[in-house]
Amino acid sequence: MTSTWSRASWRNFPRVQMPDYDDAAALREVEVRLAGNPPLVFAGEVRSLKRQLAHACEGQAFLLQGGDCAESFSELSADNIRDTFRVLLQMAVILTFSAKCPVIKVGRIAGQFAKPRSSPVEVVDGNELPSYRGDIINDLAFDRAARIPDPQRMLRAYAQASSTLNLLRAFSQGGYANIRKVHDWTLEFTGGREAERYRDLAQRITDSLDFMDAAGLDVHSSSPLSRVDFFTSHEALLLEYEEALTRVDSLTGMNFACSGHLLWIGDRTRQPDGAHVEFMSGVENPIGIKCGPSLTGEDLKRLLDRLNPGNEAGRIVLIARYGRQRVRDHLPALIETVEAEGARVVWSCDPMHGNTERSESGYKTRRFASILAEVCEFFTIHREMGTYPGGVHFEMTGMDVTECIGGVSAVSDATLAERYNTACDPRLNASQSLELAFLVAEQLAIMHANRPE
Ligand code: PEP
Ligand code: CO
Repeated sequence: MTSTWSRASWRNFPRVQMPDYDDAAALREVEVRLAGNPPLVFAGEVRSLKRQLAHACEGQAFLLQGGDCAESFSELSADNIRDTFRVLLQMAVILTFSAKCPVIKVGRIAGQFAKPRSSPVEVVDGNELPSYRGDIINDLAFDRAARIPDPQRMLRAYAQASSTLNLLRAFSQGGYANIRKVHDWTLEFTGGREAERYRDLAQRITDSLDFMDAAGLDVHSSSPLSRVDFFTSHEALLLEYEEALTRVDSLTGMNFACSGHLLWIGDRTRQPDGAHVEFMSGVENPIGIKCGPSLTGEDLKRLLDRLNPGNEAGRIVLIARYGRQRVRDHLPALIETVEAEGARVVWSCDPMHGNTERSESGYKTRRFASILAEVCEFFTIHREMGTYPGGVHFEMTGMDVTECIGGVSAVSDATLAERYNTACDPRLNASQSLELAFLVAEQLAIMHANRPE
């Protein structure tokens, strides 16, 4: 953080990927209203997440981050939120069992509304319009008026984030998160013939729960096993929204972005001298940095210097997103830079954003096999380099969508059209997400087998 930092100082830095609002007065009015609203998350929760991430830096915890590419106003429903939350918990149980350490659960949820785009315009049948930038900015409909950035949308996003969080808090603290119940849902998945290969691991989890039950640890209702810590995250792209939701913590006098617990800086907005890095440098939240092929070691050093000058553990999550073909070309050198600097970071793998392709039928999709291949390569590289693969980052939903190809649910190019509902990038459906958790668990087991005592 510079001595001139304030929640608004980003305005003096070059910005990219942000909308230009036509009506400055309307924008100002929205900012004032947002700034007067209660925070969505609280400093104490953010500090708690940071402490847990510090454990992941040391190899004592594992980060599971997942959710929609883009939340949308039209998909808001209690069932959607519940189903995504449920799959994340199921994945977390599977990963906890294999990682043999706590799994930190972070949703891409309750704020994941703003999208960076590769192109500022979209062309359909020869007609060109400004790109859709997420429901907090403009509308997906291919219509000129719909694509005009509207600041009022920030208020709707805030309201949706608030009601989403309300539900998540209830689910995570009520009986819904009970470990036995969560695992029972997984047994329904492994009970099917297609998922047979995962039955053995599921059975071992059942045995462990039975044992704990028998030993007198009540896994049905006792408090620690019926409640979970669940955190929220999104890309901090729309800085007017982030600024308006920044609050000073009364306990410490520090600034916290109170729109979500963890915020990340996207692959397109991580210029060390840019507005997004300036804003994030002054808030206390854990920060994700997307690391794509264009990130050089020098840039990373500057970013770490700007964002974490005190080398605090739990502050930085480096989210590698290269694509299965390219991860080996880039990740080892970046790990070397981090090691040479002695930087304390959590390494996480986003196997989604480097593996997007156009299907023959014309859909933007991702192959389950490519996603898995990148995760495996990420684990292999860390094993070779003696560093800790601290987490995974998925675009996924609890709904039964058909957006990614493959997995035991056997979505194929021909069936993509059936339930292709995403507002932006293709997501893993519930079955594909669970399957991936089982396969990541296998990687974690290999890691443990190779660990020095
Ligand atoms: C995303 O996570 O949705 C995203 C746009 O990622 P990236 O910045 O890595 O492309
Ligand atoms: Co995406």
